[in-house]
Amino acid sequence: MRLLNKLLIIIFVSLPVLVLADSFKTSEAYPEGQLGKMIRLGEEVMSKTDTHDMTKDLVGNRLQCKSCHLPGKDGKPGTFPSLGTFIGTAAAFPAYSSREKTVQTLQDRINNCFMRSMNGKRPIIDTEVSIAMAAYITWLSEGTPIKMDAKRPVNPKYSEFWVKNAKKFAKLQKKATHLNYLNGQKLYIQKCSVCHGKEGAGLSHFPPLWGEKNGHWLSYNTGAGMSKLHKAPVWIQKNMPLGQGGTLNDRQVADIALYINAQPRANFDLQNRLQDRNEMGYYNSKIQSEKHSVRSNFQDFGLNVDEIRGDKLIP
Ligand code: HEC
Ligand code: HEC
Repeated sequence: MRLLNKLLIIIFVSLPVLVLADSFKTSEAYPEGQLGKMIRLGEEVMSKTDTHDMTKDLVGNRLQCKSCHLPGKDGKPGTFPSLGTFIGTAAAFPAYSSREKTVQTLQDRINNCFMRSMNGKRPIIDTEVSIAMAAYITWLSEGTPIKMDAKRPVNPKYSEFWVKNAKKFAKLQKKATHLNYLNGQKLYIQKCSVCHGKEGAGLSHFPPLWGEKNGHWLSYNTGAGMSKLHKAPVWIQKNMPLGQGGTLNDRQVADIALYINAQPRANFDLQNRLQDRNEMGYYNSKIQSEKHSVRSNFQDFGLNVDEIRGDKLIP
């Protein structure tokens, strides 16, 4: 009995200390003055990107940055300690990007997620909202030693991880057939549709994965990393089903990504997206023409989307 009492006392005394220690780690104080305000603005925008006054006109879907850069326990976008985290990201910039064949700043990189993952337009570099988002990511990266990346503009912790795993999935996807599509569909219904909906349109605060509603696209376009058959499984395997990252094997996650990315989503035509230069600002890229569709994303792996789906519904 005395032993039990002692144990109980120890637990009650240490519990608040543990809880406090945790909150100290995750919610460091914002810097004072204007800088702190900008960081907070960046954080807010990344949590409400499609509805926030400063960004809603730049977004062409129903996603937020936090839809893929997941919030951690503190609820802040990009603090979940996994692939997609913003903690340490700023330390990789300026970084080379082979997609644009130029060295990019953090603002550039953020803006490219607007044009692709958010199916929208690039905010103009050095406008308040662009600086605010870069400030937020830089704040989350404080203390990470600068290590500019000469190969790709990604979080330093996951730079090699992306390449290694994308290569692995590319091999698997090249051999995909209609049977893999059917398996992906079955798994999607079992493991994903409770939150993302049977039609991929999302449910309440669970984000959409594909399709359109009232003439508006709901999710990322065909130029986004997530639309690529070898990249989506890397992210999904680490992060989904929500709270159960790491539970799906390579085959399962490759087939689910095949299924999701064989559904309708917006085409990407760089020329179109850059048409209004005044609105868009300077675009830092040596590649000035780039086009993607669901069909071409499958062709990139030697696959015919009609054969994979078993119909001719993709235009
Ligand atoms: C549909 C998912 C998705 C959404 C939404 C999204 N991103 Fe990303 N983002 C990615 C993926 C995937 C990568 C890395 C892989 C790549 O480069 O193709 C990435 C990379 C980045 C990077 C480079 C550093 C890193 O972590 O690898 C930054 C910075 C970034 N995104 C910012 C943003 C911001 C800001 C928003 C909101 C405006 C946003 N992203 C919205 C999927 C998304
Ligand atoms: C318990 C609910 C839940 C389940 C189950 C779930 N997800 Fe998610 N998923 C989320 C939430 C929530 C987010 C966005 C995170 C945020 O906004 O906080 C998300 C984000 C995503 C995204 C990026 C954003 C977008 O809409 O494109 C993809 C891709 C995704 N999930 C795929 C899957 C796949 C594939 C499965 C099944 C293997 C799955 N999810 C299962 C809740 C879920």
